[in-house]
Amino acid sequence: MHLGIYAAFVVGALLSICGISSAIHVDLSSSDAIKLSAKVLAGDMLSHYHGNEPGQIPGNLPYPYYWWECGAMFGSLIDYWLYTGDSAHNDLVTQGMQFQVGPNNDFMPPNQTKTLGNDDQCFWALAAISAAESNFPNPPKDKPQWLALAQAVFNTQAQRWDKSTCGGGLKWQIYTFNNGYTYKNTISNGCYFNLGARLALYTRNDTYADWATAAWNWMSEVGLIDEEYAVFDGSDELKHCASINRVQWSYNVGILLNGAAAMYNYTGGTDTWRRHTSGLLKTTSSTFFRDKVMFEPACELDDTCNTDQLSFKAYLSRWMAATTKLAPFTYGTIKPLLRASAEAAMSHCNGGNNGRTCGLKWSNWGNWDGSNGIGQQMAALEVLQSNLIHATKGPVREEDGGTSQGNPSAGGDGRGNKDVKAGPWSQPAGTGDRVGAGALTAVMAAGVVCGVWWIVC
Ligand SMILES: *[C@@H]1O[C@H](CO)[C@@H](O)[C@H](O)[C@H]1NC(C)=O
Ligand SMILES: *[C@@H]1O[C@H](CO)[C@@H](O)[C@H](O)[C@H]1NC(C)=O
Ligand SMILES: *[C@@H]1O[C@H](CO)[C@@H](O)[C@H](O)[C@H]1NC(C)=O
Repeated sequence: MHLGIYAAFVVGALLSICGISSAIHVDLSSSDAIKLSAKVLAGDMLSHYHGNEPGQIPGNLPYPYYWWECGAMFGSLIDYWLYTGDSAHNDLVTQGMQFQVGPNNDFMPPNQTKTLGNDDQCFWALAAISAAESNFPNPPKDKPQWLALAQAVFNTQAQRWDKSTCGGGLKWQIYTFNNGYTYKNTISNGCYFNLGARLALYTRNDTYADWATAAWNWMSEVGLIDEEYAVFDGSDELKHCASINRVQWSYNVGILLNGAAAMYNYTGGTDTWRRHTSGLLKTTSSTFFRDKVMFEPACELDDTCNTDQLSFKAYLSRWMAATTKLAPFTYGTIKPLLRASAEAAMSHCNGGNNGRTCGLKWSNWGNWDGSNGIGQQMAALEVLQSNLIHATKGPVREEDGGTSQGNPSAGGDGRGNKDVKAGPWSQPAGTGDRVGAGALTAVMAAGVVCGVWWIVC
């Protein structure tokens, strides 16, 4: 063999060995091994975030990520701290969340009006309630506190409950000038349900539970949740919610599962909420897992997941793990799914320049799918760290250990719902005049605009 070619061959072999050795290898029976790898994954996820650097805006992600996903990412870092005890990113989380609370301390910053839907606002509130439930370090006293922020979002949304069409429900969008204003969808109502159930559990205030029940009942009546506990995307008030967009996303069933488990726990384990929790878990495992590995049927197989959708597995993982604490009878079903999914995901985290980048197609076992981004890294992080759930304490409550200060009337004056004009739009940078489509799919936005969404689904 010619020496040059031989050298190239050796170098190539070495590189590929290095590539393989930098993949994420985790012994899932070892908590320490999980923590070490979670640290790497969290760092890689944050390599996309610059909000904590001088001159940057805390709580914003770069193009093409919408604002809501930064709130979602902070939620994953609060979990990271809870699961691993590593506080390395806590200051960055607190800084970013506090920067985005907006003038009324309700996560409605004026810069985001063009993309701010109920779901977007609510994802930030979920990070806040997670912070309260886990006793994440409280912000300085003169800043809005975690529990009060979650209550503020809840109260602004309660005022938006819209009985004028479809017998109730929240619209997807908050502002009339945004696409999707007539769409009443599961993620917005499901997030409100989830937040209400968890606020009820934390504060023991029945009003939240009553609202959560109303949201659940409305989604059932309209058919967003069917008798078999399949969970569909949404419905349009222009059609009186008489027809349903039946696409199924993992985060929709996940947000309901966690909320139902919270209601189960809040009610002291009623049959009704046990049935709802079990039913949703059945749908979760039959629709969003293949051979015990999590997948996103609506877009993963044909490579059509958009930026938002690439992150959905992060939330399904998060909410399944949380469910085991609230409804312990689910642990035996959920843990093996999280474990097999984490194993598959880690085998798949062997791509990119660093040799350990994660993609989305975990069921490819060992073959990185070539995709790379915050959603994929967040999903890998959440599914891995959720395997520590058995060793993590469940949510605290106000009466037993919770330290976050609440304010039941936060956001209640409705200022957040008045006098809003389409504001300047600073993010995602570089999108020019693109129409803000909120946190959901471009396909849906187009479908709603045309009023013919059954054609695309
Ligand atoms: C809103 O945008 C302006 C201009 O880019 C920026 O200076 C400010 O920090 C932004 N505020 C928030 C809360 O993102
Ligand atoms: C319970 O929550 C409702 C709705 O936010 C609020 O109006 C009420 O003051 C709360 N009650 C207590 C005792 O905090
Ligand atoms: C509610 O959650 C707590 C804490 O995780 C748990 O100990 C308790 O068993 C749960 N309640 C029910 C009815 O399962």
